[in-house]
Amino acid sequence: MDTVNSEEDSVEDMSTALYARALEVLPGGVSRNTVLRRPHPAYVDHASGSRVVDVEGIERIDFANNMASLIHGHAHPAIVDAVSEQLHKGTAFTMATEIEIRYAEHMCARSDSFERIRFVNSGTEAVMAGVKAARAFTGRPMIAKVEGAYHGLYDYAEVSQTSNPTNWGNPEEPAVNPVAHGTPPGVLDDVVVIPFNNPDRAIAILDQHRGRLACVLLDVMPHRVGLSPAEPAFVEALREWTTHDGSLLLLDEVITFRSEYGGAQSWYDLAPDLTAMGKLIGGGFPAGAIAGRSDVMDVMNPLSARVLFPHSGTFSANPVTMTAGLTAMEMFDVESVEHVNALADRAVAGIEDAIHATGITACVTGGGSMFRVHLKERPPRDYREAFTPPEEAARITSLVDHLFNAGFMMINTCSATTSTVMTTEDIDALVEAMADGFIAIS
Ligand SMILES: Cc1ncc(COP(=O)(O)O)c(C=O)c1O
Repeated sequence: MDTVNSEEDSVEDMSTALYARALEVLPGGVSRNTVLRRPHPAYVDHASGSRVVDVEGIERIDFANNMASLIHGHAHPAIVDAVSEQLHKGTAFTMATEIEIRYAEHMCARSDSFERIRFVNSGTEAVMAGVKAARAFTGRPMIAKVEGAYHGLYDYAEVSQTSNPTNWGNPEEPAVNPVAHGTPPGVLDDVVVIPFNNPDRAIAILDQHRGRLACVLLDVMPHRVGLSPAEPAFVEALREWTTHDGSLLLLDEVITFRSEYGGAQSWYDLAPDLTAMGKLIGGGFPAGAIAGRSDVMDVMNPLSARVLFPHSGTFSANPVTMTAGLTAMEMFDVESVEHVNALADRAVAGIEDAIHATGITACVTGGGSMFRVHLKERPPRDYREAFTPPEEAARITSLVDHLFNAGFMMINTCSATTSTVMTTEDIDALVEAMADGFIAIS
């Protein structure tokens, strides 16, 4: 495998030239901040299976999988064939299609908590639809969410996602901070922020808002909060509190649905009222979905005498996404789930051995088919423990760059996801490169 380090000057010229053009038309030269790298982003030429080849012809094993969204790697032949066939029949209609019914039937069969489902176009939209459905069902405006958790761009869902030691306030009562400058102050009045994995503190905060919350929005393994699975007592406390309060539990499984056949909710034998999904369910195309109790989902029912939450979307349930999603999810059967999870377990065990062997201060968190390397002594239990000060963030970037130059794409927090097309050799190669990386940054 070629690596960036072995390339000549002309290679740099191509990406440098592309980035110079991009800077003239895109803010910061990118459409998504995630792909920004110094001194310029890498530009893809093509990809297949677990390999991505950039415009300079350099091949890398992809552990980023488009931010945890590709479960079968790139250009899976079954998905390419199914989508190609659909492309010839048309891509979007002002009419319903059978494929959306077939996909809805498939998804509703995956989890007992999915009595009804609606498809949207992104995780952000799924979370937003879930919050609005919860508000419409309860007639209450407020929501609660975990400090530091990322749920997409909806104003209410992003509150306190980027809190830092200068503004996060008292751990007993985390501060309610906006993310985007100019967020309307009213948004902050309607969001309650709770600490992860601390049932006593979380319940004490929620108790101050009894009868006023539409939902508690929860990701049971939030990436930015450290990618540690929630402790069962925390999840149980929130389920119990919401049930007694008459508010809803809205689970964000945009990432974690890849963890088990019926999503990470099955780790806890949990029946959320609503579940937001996205990423892998699009089979490589933009997608989201909101699923849950039929009485709650009925707020969107256009046949009702009074529609409490009118809901639509021009490209929602378009047949291209539905075809790709159904094909991908049918292939992501119990055996495939076990395969990707076993690959991640192997990676975690190997990296833990490398940590031990190299003596670096580091640890690994994660669950299912995703894991994250921290340059910390102990796995963080909440956002404040997971917080990465600048010097540590710079070392993480060096580690991710080392891996990139050695032929491995990681998510920029040094997180990784496995896909069904990966092999144990791919995992062992990553572990070896990680061990070298630990030495390089020590
Ligand atoms: C847990 C979670 N929720 C919601 C979202 C938003 O999804 P999208 O980027 O598709 O809008 C993300 C995206 O990374 C996510 O990780």
